Amino acid sequence: MPTLLIIHHTPSPFMQAMFEAVLSGATDPEIEGVEVVRRAALAVSPADVLSADGYLLGSPANLGYMSGALKHAFDIVYYPCLDSTRGRPFGLYLHGNEGTEGAERGVTSITTGLGWAKAAAYVAVSGKPGKDDLRACWELGATVAAQLMG
Ligand SMILES: Cc1cc2nc3c(=O)[nH]c(=O)nc-3n(C[C@H](O)[C@H](O)[C@H](O)COP(=O)(O)O)c2cc1C
Repeated sequence: MPTLLIIHHTPSPFMQAMFEAVLSGATDPEIEGVEVVRRAALAVSPADVLSADGYLLGSPANLGYMSGALKHAFDIVYYPCLDSTRGRPFGLYLHGNEGTEGAERGVTSITTGLGWAKAAAYVAVSGKPGKDDLRACWELGATVAAQLMG
């Protein structure tokens, strides 16, 4: 069964709400035959990434970049996964209160190096996630999961 791996750093209630919306989209009953696995970014291993078929990445913007936790995940998996995960789809959601551009650039640069395929528009939320923001998170999860359906 294809596996979708959610690699997330979730340090606050607003980010928890976004994570739950993404997870809810990815595990919607209409999406059949896709196993969804989630890992905190600080706990992810190369084996988790190698054994998945697509990825959802979630992070706050911190100090103008992705969180250290998500960067740590990339640091751990980058070379072990290079050339074995090329072409796999990924999605990204970010939360930031002062701008997420640097985090977006960083993730784009690393995923380009890995050869991953951007499967949906990035979702970036500022402040308290509203209904439309959570809907966009849900859509992100559902869109990436749907691409893994046989
Ligand atoms: C050390 C630190 C640096 C941060 N830097 C940024 C930043 O560069 N850009 C930004 O949009 N938000 C920044 N933030 C805000 C976080 O993105 C925000 O705390 C996170 O998305 C969770 O949102 P919440 O605290 O409102 O729930 C920073 C937060 C911390 C603790």
